[in-house]
Amino acid sequence: MNAPDSSGPDLYAVFGNPIAHSKSPRIHALFAAQTDQHLVYEKRLAPLDGFAASVQEFIAAGGRGANVTVPFKLQAHDLADTLAPRAQAAGAVNTLIFADGQVYGDNTDGQGLVSDIVHRAGQPINGQRVLVLGAGGATRGALLPLLEQRPQQLTLANRTLSTAQELLTQFSAQFPEAGRGVTLHACGLSDIQGQFDLVINATSASLQAAIPPIPENCFANGALAYDMVYGKELTPFLQYAQQHGARARDGLGMLVEQAALAFFLWRKVKPDSDAVYHTLLSEL
Ligand code: ATR
Repeated sequence: MNAPDSSGPDLYAVFGNPIAHSKSPRIHALFAAQTDQHLVYEKRLAPLDGFAASVQEFIAAGGRGANVTVPFKLQAHDLADTLAPRAQAAGAVNTLIFADGQVYGDNTDGQGLVSDIVHRAGQPINGQRVLVLGAGGATRGALLPLLEQRPQQLTLANRTLSTAQELLTQFSAQFPEAGRGVTLHACGLSDIQGQFDLVINATSASLQAAIPPIPENCFANGALAYDMVYGKELTPFLQYAQQHGARARDGLGMLVEQAALAFFLWRKVKPDSDAVYHTLLSEL
């Protein structure tokens, strides 16, 4: 455990544009209070054409680490001197560590998703039939951590079939071991066949209050439907899933878990993410 520093708090921040809505400062302040870590965590609005300069300024001011959100995750990937394998696989970085004059990039989004599903929602992924909707950045970030759980099969369904096919081809070439023993398959949304134990909505449809048009019988008995988006109300996708027999879970837990993993990378201390999840839930 890092000893509390008497010379002043360590400095962290989340970079994004826009950033006003970010819950990350709240989450990390709760983690720091829980674990007695002496740190400050701020919001930084980086100009759309000035992400790298903002980060360099932050490092010069003593910044120890940062989270990165929309639209800078790809630029953060390019900025890092060294990348964790899961950040390479994601092609994006949400966590930066500044140490010894180096920038280390990681991506905790996919592992955060898996932790929330397996540990908090109690839904195993190992040996299960998994359907992922979407083939954009959110899906790319989740693929490696999902496959590491060794599902029986993973189907990637996207509105634009070729994007899903390209993502799987590229991913399999980059990480040939990752999908070993897993039946990997790409299809269009309307071509989804069979039933799934876990259906993850990684499209941005919920942000437009839309539902990916998927067959209503794709949810197996007792299936978990997961939306990476969260809010006070269930998203239209989760309402649809519930109407067709699935359990519904939104992405608030993923948000807290990816933050807990980032906190651990920086501070080598595991926060009690359950307590923080319930605090945030009560504040929605
Ligand atoms: P992100 O980085 O959040 O994943 P993205 O890279 O723009 O965002 O990807 C958005 C994903 O949501 C894509 O898979 C997109 O499908 P297309 O590849 O066909 O564009 C999907 N998507 C967006 N709106 C959708 C909708 N209304 N219905 C179904 N899929 C949708």
